[in-house]
Amino acid sequence: MKPYQNLTVDHMTLLLDPELYDVMYFVFRNVFGVAKQDLLYERRRPAAGGVPELSMTFASLVGRHQGNAAMDNTIIATVQPTEPAGERSHVREMLKEHSAAAHWQHIALRTPDLIAFHRHCQDRGVNFITPILRDDHEDLIQVFSGELYHPGGKPSAVFFEFVQRNPTPEAVKMLEERNREAWFRDTTFLGLYQEKENEYRSGKVVPFIDPELHRALKKVAGGRQVFELSEADVAEADRLMLAAGSTKRAVKA
Ligand SMILES: [Fe+2]
Repeated sequence: MKPYQNLTVDHMTLLLDPELYDVMYFVFRNVFGVAKQDLLYERRRPAAGGVPELSMTFASLVGRHQGNAAMDNTIIATVQPTEPAGERSHVREMLKEHSAAAHWQHIALRTPDLIAFHRHCQDRGVNFITPILRDDHEDLIQVFSGELYHPGGKPSAVFFEFVQRNPTPEAVKMLEERNREAWFRDTTFLGLYQEKENEYRSGKVVPFIDPELHRALKKVAGGRQVFELSEADVAEADRLMLAAGSTKRAVKA
């Protein structure tokens, strides 16, 4: 590799339906911990022809570089559908739904403490399609979120993966005890792959957050632009997320 090929993740761009845009604003603020000053920029389309000023884009600073060179690796995984023509394939369906030959399916965000971050998310009603899994080949633990889509829409085939590299032996042991049956899958790639295949075959694709919570957050936004949402609105969204998380926990128990 040449020095000029040392490419690290700079930013990622996520296209969102307006139905998801303000809800994801609350997700970035409350789930990913993006403070007001971490909103690097926000661009607006000026009011014109009776249409009010609209938020076009906002960029969030998520996480800080820790100065660990080994963690600066950038990894791009590619997947193609390999099921025979007559057989169902969620990969094929994801591409077909997007009428595209390519589509960014998930981005992986690295955390130094996956168990704590996973709990933070679950406390706020975020859905996951797998327990925290371990990849022995890579010495990492990982978990996969539900897909971004809104109650009236179709699954977007976009989701998040959260990873922790070099997990402590204590964390690994704790997870081992927590999900014994899920632990011994061949590889986590196949674990995710099979989970997605099952979801697409059953037609029940787990959303990032439940429809009820989506509607509640939409109500907080109240049709306003994201630049019009106050810190009190963000706090109210967090309160609703925490309530949704605790309701879910109560149902599970
Ligand atoms: Fe991944």
